[in-house]
Amino acid sequence: MANFSLSLLSLLLLLPLSAYSELQPYVVYLGEHSGEKTVQEIHDTHHSFLLSVKETEEVAQASLIYSYKKSINGLAALLTPEEAAKLSEMEGVVSVFPSQAKKWYVQTTRSWDFLGIKDRRDGESNYERGGLMHEAKYGQDVIVGLLDSGIWPESTSFSDEGMGPIPKSWKGICQAGDAFNSSHCNRKLIGARYYLKGYEAYYDAPLNTSTDYRSPRDKDGHGSHTSSIVGGRVVEGVSALGGFAQGTASGGAPLARLAMYKVCWPVPGRDPSEGNICMDTDMLAAIDDAIGDGVDVLSISIGTFSPVNYTDDGIAIGALHAVKRNIVVACSAGNNGPGPGTLSNIAPWIITVGASSIDRVFPSPVVLGNSLTVQGQSVAPYMLDDKMYPLVYAGDAVVPGVNNSVADQCLPGSLSPEKVKGKIVLCLRRLGTRVGKGLEVRRAGGAAIFLGNSRLNGNELPIDSYFLPGTAVAFEDATNILSYINSTKNPTAKVVPGMTVINVKPAPSMASFSSRGPNVIEPNILKPDITAPGINILASWSEKSSPTKLLSDHRRVKYNFDSGTSMSCPHVAGIAALLKAIHPSWSSAAIRSAIMTTARTRNNMGMPLTDATGDTANPFSYGSGHLDPTNVADPGLVYDASYTDYLLFLCGSSGLKGLDSSFKCPKKSPSASNLNYPSLSISKLNGTMTVKRTVTNVGDGESVYLVTIRPPAGVSVKIAPRVLNFSRVGEKKSFTITVKAKKDSQVDWRGTEEKFAFGSYTWTDGIHHVRSPMAVSLA
Ligand SMILES: *[C@@H]1O[C@H](CO)[C@@H](O)[C@H](O)[C@H]1NC(C)=O
Ligand SMILES: *[C@@H]1O[C@H](CO)[C@@H](O)[C@H](O)[C@H]1NC(C)=O
Ligand SMILES: *[C@@H]1O[C@H](CO)[C@@H](O)[C@H](O)[C@H]1NC(C)=O
Ligand SMILES: *[C@@H]1O[C@H](CO)[C@@H](O)[C@H](O)[C@H]1NC(C)=O
Ligand SMILES: *[C@@H]1O[C@H](CO)[C@@H](O)[C@H](O)[C@H]1NC(C)=O
Ligand SMILES: *[C@@H]1O[C@H](CO)[C@@H](O)[C@H](O)[C@H]1NC(C)=O
Ligand SMILES: *[C@@H]1O[C@H](CO)[C@@H](O)[C@H](O)[C@H]1NC(C)=O
Repeated sequence: MANFSLSLLSLLLLLPLSAYSELQPYVVYLGEHSGEKTVQEIHDTHHSFLLSVKETEEVAQASLIYSYKKSINGLAALLTPEEAAKLSEMEGVVSVFPSQAKKWYVQTTRSWDFLGIKDRRDGESNYERGGLMHEAKYGQDVIVGLLDSGIWPESTSFSDEGMGPIPKSWKGICQAGDAFNSSHCNRKLIGARYYLKGYEAYYDAPLNTSTDYRSPRDKDGHGSHTSSIVGGRVVEGVSALGGFAQGTASGGAPLARLAMYKVCWPVPGRDPSEGNICMDTDMLAAIDDAIGDGVDVLSISIGTFSPVNYTDDGIAIGALHAVKRNIVVACSAGNNGPGPGTLSNIAPWIITVGASSIDRVFPSPVVLGNSLTVQGQSVAPYMLDDKMYPLVYAGDAVVPGVNNSVADQCLPGSLSPEKVKGKIVLCLRRLGTRVGKGLEVRRAGGAAIFLGNSRLNGNELPIDSYFLPGTAVAFEDATNILSYINSTKNPTAKVVPGMTVINVKPAPSMASFSSRGPNVIEPNILKPDITAPGINILASWSEKSSPTKLLSDHRRVKYNFDSGTSMSCPHVAGIAALLKAIHPSWSSAAIRSAIMTTARTRNNMGMPLTDATGDTANPFSYGSGHLDPTNVADPGLVYDASYTDYLLFLCGSSGLKGLDSSFKCPKKSPSASNLNYPSLSISKLNGTMTVKRTVTNVGDGESVYLVTIRPPAGVSVKIAPRVLNFSRVGEKKSFTITVKAKKDSQVDWRGTEEKFAFGSYTWTDGIHHVRSPMAVSLA
């Protein structure tokens, strides 16, 4: 009984405030500051909004969480649903929404080489002349801000050795806190702040300081990882635990300046390996500061489990204010794939990044007692003796009472030590964490783990620093191992230790976890925009975390593997930083356009990109294609878009209120398909539709572009004019795209109710190839 009430108590402590009170944190969004009011006047205005729904001055004061005063106009406060509804009706209020508790995804060396961005000679001074990094001076004048879990400032990746003075435009600070003071910032890490008020209001409790630092310091590892991918220094001789993936680590823009805005914190009472939580209220405050501080690029590896409307989304709102000031915003597409309609961060002013593999594997073959060899993959830093071990299927080795349907999952406490002691255990993926399964096998006394994919995971082999020897195998191979176990009385096996192999073909292929289109909030905008490396990326880590993030794991590493769209997003942000350096006058839309129209849709064998299952992938997983830095600085033409274009888009986009209250929508709003986007989506085409696009010449002054079209199945596509004749740089030319449904069309998009078909159109002058994907569904 005592035990029961204790666990009840701790359960209550974990719940958000809203679970036992009507009050919960809301964002009251008021649009843009006019620039006429003083900070005190803004504060008074925000306070008077609250006072109009709260009984007393004191209650209003106590309920205020944030007052956003710089670019973003709004406040965060504890409100009841009735108070929120009342406020949303008031003059000057754009939207009122409950602060979402966003979760990021649980779950470098090689990746930049694979992208072809650096040559093999190491060192910043040794890059090939004329290369993208060289041309961009390694991003030395560019400031990249990240919203994440903080940063481990002592990592060599964040050393400022030999770096020049901090750009004069910088207005940020180095906020002191637990184990962090101003001397932890330097000419590389030029700014660091942390945001906790929204988190503490949500849980109605202070941060448990034994679970995280009350400061910009990273306890988790995620923020150090993403920071070093986008802008880590060139560090030689880096490898993961066990010596895997040895090589030179570097960020995409190794001399760019970094600013960390820590907004993600542990979920109270949960193991850190299950992921962190990041509040809309805190993220809006962070973005408001980042804009004021003067960042050029924002990299946000944070998403939701399901799509969220722009008006209810702190990242989308904050990003629109950032984009208005020409800050490029890259966000992860989410790790909710491979099902359709699973994207987050779908606003058309954001670069939405999916994840795919690189050309590096860690083969660790499994040899079965019948001499059959199965190709596994492993970075387990432990070895078995070179002999055959007894092999058991977890489904046959659980303690009594474990539900049959989960017996093969190796969930905590499920395995019977009598049945697995000294044996290799075959566990399957579906539920629970991968490293948790390894931990369970070790707890029960197993000698090693074979981790078999489920059907959905296909051939995509994750690698983890298990606590014991082990290897991961594809779905088909797991089935073969199981057949062998079934076929014999005393099954046996051995594992050959893993090794690092590069230049693997084919690569890349899409990650099964990468979230997929269609864009369910606005199907007339094609998302994601691009895919980039996001599987088994080696990058900087927190020395307070462990390679598995499990509390019971006491190992410490300086560099660690991680996978997710969290890792692919900073790859794109790194390229955006280099483009900012080369083309400082380009808008964020122009930079996105260059990244999208120069992307590749073929792998390193010249074949179409595939999914983890081996099936041909499509733009709902990779958008315009795979990030390809080769021509990104010289795209020929760009599809530009301004802040006003985005507001016009919001007028036309189905039923959504404008994000900017001072903007008046025209009587007849344009269709969302008409936003000048570098890709085209038309949902539920009925008959014929014509959309307009405008390209800006950023290539050679005099040039003539011709268009080629690959129409999606079931429609005809006409582009007029078919020739664009430019006479100078900066010149704009418009064209129309007319899409017409054919009578007996056959379109098919697996698994969705709405059936999309895919195609593309490409403008070329013989040197530049400006490619745009198309997705069309019929009414
Ligand atoms: C910052 O903290 C370090 C210890 O981590 C200490 O050595 C240093 O003196 C502190 N610097 C300032 C400016 O407080
Ligand atoms: C704080 O976290 C530690 C470590 O997880 C835990 O043991 C402790 O109970 C927590 N304290 C509170 C007040 O929740
Ligand atoms: C988005 O907002 C619109 C208009 O308020 C609403 O009709 C729609 O259901 C919302 N979509 C989601 C996914 O919340
Ligand atoms: C076992 O799990 C399945 C699926 O989760 C569930 O439907 C079933 O009721 C469970 N059986 C028992 C005995 O708990
Ligand atoms: C192995 O045997 C189990 C029953 O023990 C059965 O459910 C399963 O389908 C068999 N698997 C294979 C691959 O033969
Ligand atoms: C492009 O325009 C220039 C100048 O107007 C003209 O001389 C040239 O013939 C044009 N080229 C094509 C292919 O139309
Ligand atoms: C397509 O358009 C025609 C003519 O405007 C209309 O009669 C018909 O209902 C529409 N069909 C669908 C499926 O919307």
